[in-house]
Amino acid sequence: MEVRLAKTAGFCFGVKRAVDTVYQQVKECKNEKIYTYGPIIHNEEVVKDLRSKGVEVIETEEELRRLTSGVVIIRSHGVSKHIYTILEEQGLKCVDATCPFVKKIHRIVEKESADGAHIIIIGDEKHPEVQGIQGWSHTPVTIIKTEEQAANFELPENTRICIVSQTTFNYNKFKYLVEIISKKHYNVNVLNTICSATKERQTEAENIAKEVDVMIVIGDKHSSNTQKLFEICRSACGDTYYIQTLDDLDMNQLKSVQTVGITAGASTPSNIIEEVQNNVRFNF
Ligand code: F3S
Repeated sequence: MEVRLAKTAGFCFGVKRAVDTVYQQVKECKNEKIYTYGPIIHNEEVVKDLRSKGVEVIETEEELRRLTSGVVIIRSHGVSKHIYTILEEQGLKCVDATCPFVKKIHRIVEKESADGAHIIIIGDEKHPEVQGIQGWSHTPVTIIKTEEQAANFELPENTRICIVSQTTFNYNKFKYLVEIISKKHYNVNVLNTICSATKERQTEAENIAKEVDVMIVIGDKHSSNTQKLFEICRSACGDTYYIQTLDDLDMNQLKSVQTVGITAGASTPSNIIEEVQNNVRFNF
């Protein structure tokens, strides 16, 4: 049997960097309590493993305000500027694992809003990355996700506007929403801040799925990017399976199959991917 593992399967650069940072802190900070501000990734296995090593997850700002000592790690999504102020006020050590691509958006928003531009973020207002970006603006921000919101957006003509995007937003949708806003006679500065990692993972998965008999998508059941990956693969290959770990894989489904493709969502650790790959390879 031929097994084709996607090169882009699993953690993107920013997530890998954030997870590695936490494990590095576990090694280095033996005498200090370590916290992550929000789960470091949406993967139960990883969060559980870190908890067993003493890393706790802080869920809210209130919890953060109650801490008086320890190390707080900022995850790849980044946070609003005022969170850094809280960390400083509380005398907490901050280890910043914000993805550099997200950090770049923070800097753009901070500068452009200070220069008087109205900031528009194309993205999902409930997403922590978007909330973090919003928190770097000196002025009110508009978050736009739908065609209707773009159409209803109104400011006086010639207003200076700076448009940025959530890093994982769909490029075509971003382009379309920008077009709607650009027709409104504003002075618009568009900065495409979409990260290519998601798109590359999806394109590679689709290409592999088209050529194999069975496709396996590995990821947490709550991970929206894995669900999307699964949908893309399923439309290219009818026999596509969504598994969280090796335990979910029914090896009988792979009997008499010639080629198997494997990909994984952005929050799937490499040891889970390897375990699946090795078992598929060596069992047939
Ligand atoms: Fe990942 Fe950073 Fe891109 S977290 S998806 S590499 S913006």
